[in-house]
Amino acid sequence: MTERPSGPFRVGDRVQLTGPKGRLHTITLREDGELHTHHGVLRHTELIGQPDGSVVANSGGHEYLALRPLLRDFVMSMPRGAAIVYPKDAAQILAEADVFPGATVVEAGVGSGALSLWLLRAVGAGGRLVSFERREEFAEVARANVETFTGSVPENWDVVLGDLGEALPTAVEPGSVDRVVLDMLAPWECIDVVADALTPGGVVVCYVATATQLSRVAEYIRGTGRFTEPDANETMVRGWHVEGLAVRPDHRMVAHTGFLLWARRLAPGAVPPEVKRRASKSSYGDEDVELWTPGAVGDRQITDKNLRKRVREAQRAAEAVRAAGSPEDESD
Ligand SMILES: C[S@@+](CC[C@H](N)C(=O)[O-])C[C@H]1O[C@@H](n2cnc3c(N)ncnc32)[C@H](O)[C@@H]1O
Repeated sequence: MTERPSGPFRVGDRVQLTGPKGRLHTITLREDGELHTHHGVLRHTELIGQPDGSVVANSGGHEYLALRPLLRDFVMSMPRGAAIVYPKDAAQILAEADVFPGATVVEAGVGSGALSLWLLRAVGAGGRLVSFERREEFAEVARANVETFTGSVPENWDVVLGDLGEALPTAVEPGSVDRVVLDMLAPWECIDVVADALTPGGVVVCYVATATQLSRVAEYIRGTGRFTEPDANETMVRGWHVEGLAVRPDHRMVAHTGFLLWARRLAPGAVPPEVKRRASKSSYGDEDVELWTPGAVGDRQITDKNLRKRVREAQRAAEAVRAAGSPEDESD
């Protein structure tokens, strides 16, 4: 990976220019390059050799702030074939999947390549990323996006065309993968091959858009008996407006992108010690899930004795209010 995130601007660098009225232009520096707008012409040579974060003027005297795009700027503006993993979720995926320098990571599908860029950065030159995608056009978009950002297609990155369920067993040795990230419609269809590919202790992370997918993949993972108990979360990031005394949350936010679910591969044949749980939670069964019983949806069921106690408490509170008279009575 030949990212050049710092130092003076050089030929071939991508530069994000913020011009008059905050308009953004992203250019790739060339010796003979020029940016033409109705405000005038900016020659790329004005930027080459300047430090990142410089301000340069065009022929009409209009000033531009020049910065190399950060990875999050790039992924949010790059061409998309499929919906991307947002930076807030990518950061969380790296943490929950525990992606480390030198790791061997599998991801599917590659989509537009946004998550691939974060994963490539995290595994570093000593790691390896194998990305699977069943739609050729999406794989092409992803390859082009990664090349644009990094300057070349990284040598430690393979894009395998095909369905993960069929292609994974032939692409990697069983038990050789440290981490797997699934961003696809039906991750449960691939969990068995993922379990075969993962090293004992390895992590699978699924990123799904809906609660129904979350439930289905969680139950599938549990049912295999080959993983630890899955955990899940979602990440909401609320921006803040911080200016003078006007310090408050932004009025708008991206309220929903997706859920993360993760679990670790058990050693072959390992059966984890049973975790003691409340009776209502250990009573899940196929029938519960079908019938939508209170136990199935995790409702804690109150005992009859406790319920009678709550009724007496509630009635005592109501009697006390009656005895004291209503607020209207008092004001009359
Ligand atoms: C939401 S996109 C992935 C976006 C990507 N993570 C990114 O950040 O740009 C989902 C992709 O998964 C691919 N896909 C779905 N099921 C697949 C499977 N079983 N094997 C391989 N690719 C699959 C789809 O074609 C689609 O491109």
